[in-house]
Amino acid sequence: AKTDAFDIVFFGGTGDLALRKLLPALYQAHKAGALHAEGRIFALGRKPIGLEGYLELLQRRVRPKLGEAYDDQTWESFVGRLHFQSLNAENVEDYRNLVQSMDSPGDRIMVCYLATAPHLFIPICQNLAAAGLNHPRVRVVLEKPLGHDLKSSDAISKAVGQCFTENQIYRIDHYLGKESVQNLMAIRFGNTLFEPLWRREWIDNIQITIAEDLGVEERGEFYDRTGALRDMLQSHLLQLLCIVAMEPPPSLSEDAIRDEKLKVLRSLKPFSTDDVLSKSVRGQYRSGAINGKPVVGYREEQNVAPDSNTETFVALQAEIVNWRWAGIPFFLRTGKRLQERVAEIVINFRGVPHALYPSPMGLHSANRMVIGLQPKESVRLYFLAKEPGDTMSLQSTYLNLDFPAMSKARRADAYERLLLDVIRGQLSLFMRRDEQAQAWAWVEPILECWDKHSVPPKPYTAGSWGPAASSALASRAGVLWHEET
Ligand code: BG6
Repeated sequence: AKTDAFDIVFFGGTGDLALRKLLPALYQAHKAGALHAEGRIFALGRKPIGLEGYLELLQRRVRPKLGEAYDDQTWESFVGRLHFQSLNAENVEDYRNLVQSMDSPGDRIMVCYLATAPHLFIPICQNLAAAGLNHPRVRVVLEKPLGHDLKSSDAISKAVGQCFTENQIYRIDHYLGKESVQNLMAIRFGNTLFEPLWRREWIDNIQITIAEDLGVEERGEFYDRTGALRDMLQSHLLQLLCIVAMEPPPSLSEDAIRDEKLKVLRSLKPFSTDDVLSKSVRGQYRSGAINGKPVVGYREEQNVAPDSNTETFVALQAEIVNWRWAGIPFFLRTGKRLQERVAEIVINFRGVPHALYPSPMGLHSANRMVIGLQPKESVRLYFLAKEPGDTMSLQSTYLNLDFPAMSKARRADAYERLLLDVIRGQLSLFMRRDEQAQAWAWVEPILECWDKHSVPPKPYTAGSWGPAASSALASRAGVLWHEET
């Protein structure tokens, strides 16, 4: 269904996120006919490059991202929606000029997308409010990272909360827009098959991995201040954990889902100093090779301090202390410059209580469900079956749900899905203020302890699966990471 009429305003319109993700996502939505004919896009940037300069930038940066989806006619009609305005985010006068030049009809939705550094979130929201742009039809989208720690994140929440009501605020975590993440909920709560087994009695351990083969690219300066724990674990990994571990919500309403996710975050066992030292691993990549091509180490990357101690890898063993999960280890891991790009959730069920059959190699990979997010969306169910022929030996095999092969329907990128949700006013895939705070509260002792005990990151070779300490972390609990089995 088409959206209602809207104006979407991109703060940071000339920035990396807008050019790499947001504008390509809107182009796709435009091409699919999902956008109201009168929907307008206002890109804001500091430099007065004018619409012409902006369109040149899009030709260079956005058009090549569109691949086969590009065609001249769609492009022409898409850029017809665009406007460009230069704006100093800290100057309220510029906002008044923006209101004038937009001249929006009174009834349309306005989405203000803050794709900027987080230190600008507060001044932007205050200036929007001062210019009258906080009326009920305005929605504001906040990109991660929402602050640097609990204190700065609370300061943002408080100040933004003084300008907008909670249901006008869309805290985006693009992992929640990924098809497989929604599919995981559908599989859990749409069937009777798995949910009875989805608990400590039947599950041995759960692993969540987001591995990237990319390094820090052009984001060295940002990344060096941030690190993998803040960049990926506090947000994406904890959100995936919530979806895996939450109780069935009473409905699909936004607060029903967010209440359940919050309960999971509140049930995470806080890390003591001992836990941080024994159940978390920090790593940093050294030079190595990705797909046979040599790559430099993290400390040689552009805009990274040559003696940097920022982690580019983190693995940890978490526990959720409630009736469903107490005692079951959840292994979370993410890193840059790992062997391949893969994001997956692995549910390892318990083995049979008494093995009747001879156990050849490979049996440990049975009783397992692997939900693939990237590079392909899939669900694989590993189990044991008889080897063909005159034998009673078992072999490990799997059922594979290959979603792209099942349906040729176009797969929308996570940002496309989430942008349409904002325009449609659907909050369920966005984080609430209390969730955000709780996620920070849980990771903070880990950050503090690393800092206090000067835990340096362990080096790992680019193109590996991270430091050896990561395998050791799992094997201390009698577990192997999925790719090691
Ligand atoms: C972003 C992080 O949130 O997610 C990046 O800031 C990371 O460092 C990216 O590369 C990964 O997203 P995806 O969708 O490519 O897995």
